Amino acid sequence: MRSLEKSNQHFKKALSKLPLGVSSNFRYWGEDKTLYVRRGKGARLWDIDDNEYIDYRLGYGPAILGYADERVDQAAREGMHVGGVFALGTELEYEVASRISRMVPAAELVRFSNSGTEAVMAALRIARAHTGKDGHIILEGGYHGVFSEVMWYSEVEEWVPEDGAPEVMPYGNGVPQIIRPLFHSVPLNDANAVEDILKEHHQDIGAFLIEAIMGNCCSLTASSEFLRDVRSLCDRYDVVMIIDEVKTGFRVAKGGAQELLGVKADLCTFAKALANGYPISVVAGREDIMRNVGDGVVHGGTFTGHSVSLAAANKTLEILEETDALASIEKYGTDLQHGLSKILSARGIAHSFVGHPSMTGLFFSDDPPKNYRDWINTDYAFYDALALELHELGILVEPDSREPWFMCEAHDVECLAETLDKFETAVDITIENSQADKSTINTAQKRRKNG
Ligand SMILES: Cc1ncc(COP(=O)(O)O)c(C=O)c1O
Repeated sequence: MRSLEKSNQHFKKALSKLPLGVSSNFRYWGEDKTLYVRRGKGARLWDIDDNEYIDYRLGYGPAILGYADERVDQAAREGMHVGGVFALGTELEYEVASRISRMVPAAELVRFSNSGTEAVMAALRIARAHTGKDGHIILEGGYHGVFSEVMWYSEVEEWVPEDGAPEVMPYGNGVPQIIRPLFHSVPLNDANAVEDILKEHHQDIGAFLIEAIMGNCCSLTASSEFLRDVRSLCDRYDVVMIIDEVKTGFRVAKGGAQELLGVKADLCTFAKALANGYPISVVAGREDIMRNVGDGVVHGGTFTGHSVSLAAANKTLEILEETDALASIEKYGTDLQHGLSKILSARGIAHSFVGHPSMTGLFFSDDPPKNYRDWINTDYAFYDALALELHELGILVEPDSREPWFMCEAHDVECLAETLDKFETAVDITIENSQADKSTINTAQKRRKNG
């Protein structure tokens, strides 16, 4: 049994200065399970009790090359010598922007921000300015950051299908009800639902905000048919199509989900993998739309274009563009799926994988979920219990099947063998304890409860 004595003690101390003892609600896993990290290297991290984990959370995706990558950290150190932030531009902004445009054809013009939230917030503002329409559509189960316009979710856990669409609820308190009418939601892969909403409300809707592989919702993936239909509906109804690539960008392909699925956004957003974990994000897109910035739309921020993050982004993108890093991450993900599948099939456990091998959802059901509503038909209680056993054995995954497993370049053959070995043990223990312990943590529920 792993000891979390120091983490538990630290939690009590932290609670006196930090709400929930952490710096983001999603890191709070309960008073006896909240982890504090000592350090990370490659695909592994160590908590303050010195427990070692092979990490498949990777900070929700950023560490595409692995933690403390020497190549990126060296570049970041050089960025430090530039001096930080000046509230003035530096030459590197142009260089990084040019590389992004080369990798992602939709990114004709680029603006830098600091977080995914900021980038998506800017994208929505630009879309509103461009169309003169304030409303937006989001997919059910979609997550786009912590600003009020997108902090609404579809309550599928309590949902009764006979009663119609799931109820839309705010993510926690403090989200103003007054902006609720701006928000519309549709199930993934249901172009008819999009068309129905646009027929009725197109005069109020300026943006369709979509994660084409839903990195916060099982890695559910948009079909090419759906993307094609949505693309043409957006064109027909003067709606800006924003593809949020905060998780998929520079991960599922060099050109992100757009390259993988053959679609071109009007605006797109990037963050996580962009600088291997250094804080930087991007809103980019069609020149005529992006030119609204500076021509009516304000975008800025004291820390935007920070010399350390820019240098890290420059090096990370150079590696991702010029080496086969993404191909090797994809191969690791595919090998992992085969290994996990063999273990589960040998025990007659129905399962399926969803998404791209570099960010994979694992489900316990005969059929993979096709949209968020389907997720409730999977055995997520088994997943939650299994995740906790994996933690005990040193494999870190989110204890909620809605968050995919993330792969990085540093996941190697040793990681694979160790993961499969421990997964097999964890599955057997979970089956033994199949009266699943009701104290399992469900961060998504906490996400909802705590906002
Ligand atoms: C698709 C997507 N958009 C936006 C965000 C918000 O990014 P950040 O947490 O950097 O603000 C996230 C975060 O997980 C995300 O996955």
